[in-house]
Amino acid sequence: MNNDLKALFPALNQTLDGYPLCYLDTAATSQKPAQVLEAMDSFYRQHNANVHRAAHQLSARATSAYETVRDSLKEFIGAAQSNEIIFTSGTTQSINMLAWGLTSQLHQGDVILVDSAAHHANIVPWQELAKRSGAEVVPIPLTADLRLDIQAYQKQLDTLPVRIVALAHVSNVLGTVNDIKALSAMAKAKGALVAVDGAQAIAHHKVNVVKLGCDFYSFSSHKMYGPSGVGVLWGCYQELDKLEPMLTGGEMIDTVSFDGTCFGQLPNRLEAGTPPIVEVIGLGAALKFIKELPVEAFDHEQQMLNLLQQRLAQLPQVELYGAHQDNTGAVAFNLKGEHHQDVGILLDQQGIAIRCGHHCAQPLMQIMQISGCCRASVGVYTSREDIDRFITALEDAIDLLG
Ligand SMILES: Cc1ncc(COP(=O)(O)O)c(C=O)c1O
Repeated sequence: MNNDLKALFPALNQTLDGYPLCYLDTAATSQKPAQVLEAMDSFYRQHNANVHRAAHQLSARATSAYETVRDSLKEFIGAAQSNEIIFTSGTTQSINMLAWGLTSQLHQGDVILVDSAAHHANIVPWQELAKRSGAEVVPIPLTADLRLDIQAYQKQLDTLPVRIVALAHVSNVLGTVNDIKALSAMAKAKGALVAVDGAQAIAHHKVNVVKLGCDFYSFSSHKMYGPSGVGVLWGCYQELDKLEPMLTGGEMIDTVSFDGTCFGQLPNRLEAGTPPIVEVIGLGAALKFIKELPVEAFDHEQQMLNLLQQRLAQLPQVELYGAHQDNTGAVAFNLKGEHHQDVGILLDQQGIAIRCGHHCAQPLMQIMQISGCCRASVGVYTSREDIDRFITALEDAIDLLG
């Protein structure tokens, strides 16, 4: 079944130096099915106009197509209202927009708890918010098996003046999953806001933001089979409406005069300027693609991840990091005594694409006491053959380096 799916992704059907591409870097960005490419192409060819602006028919058509995607996203993540969906350029912009928008709500001495396994995009904006407001960023520790330390988290909530909790739904390095529902409930009991980075969860989990109980949820289209250049900040209306806009200008206003400006309503208030229109259309096509996938496609993807973990665990030269059966999407490892970059280069010579480095998670690398690692990640198109080829190439790398 996954081989049929693979055929839908043009970029996967190519060879590199005579080797068929084996793409195990979906956590960095997923490949795009033809229907996403076609939706974007046909929008430019037939419907292209700016949204929300003109009286003409083309603009009305473009606006309707653009707003339809907002409605689909509302359904997709179980939001209460479409105007809780803000289009951004991606997770990084979503979290920056959020941290900026919260500035006047934070004060000297307030604490922002941040997941130690977070991506830099979910750390640095909070550090900047702390600088602006006098608040303090405090990391939430991990357990020895690299999961979030729930007891330590509860203690932090009990003893510190926590205003915001910033969590990853799924770690982009390890693939470990946070129980957002439970962690949100713990934070809410103390009156803290909960901001979740869903970049690595959205293509793999059925996300329902209301059931998760968080206040904000961010993700990027390009990690969910859609185009780059667009992402989402979801917030529950009450909290989203309190955010100060990071970007100001056209489209986000109600009235402007040289005596002053009145901002418009959500979602426009947080979407200044011309949005990434065609990328939103592509994201709409990606949502349709995901929604039409049979459940078996997601079961298969999980089996591929577990197979990767098992096959790697059988190699004595491999050191695995935080590889739990209930992880999502990615597995992190090193070859003992070898540099992660060397491994990546050797695999690439056989057409196998993985990611090596610190994965924009330097605090996690510091906890793990490594400079970097290799990460193999899967999507619905990953096949058993991909895993076999990866393991064979890794064995070759072990022989060569050893
Ligand atoms: C967990 C996580 N958060 C944030 C980001 C940043 O996403 P983007 O570069 O699309 O803004 C990534 C990207 O790898 C990620 O994996």
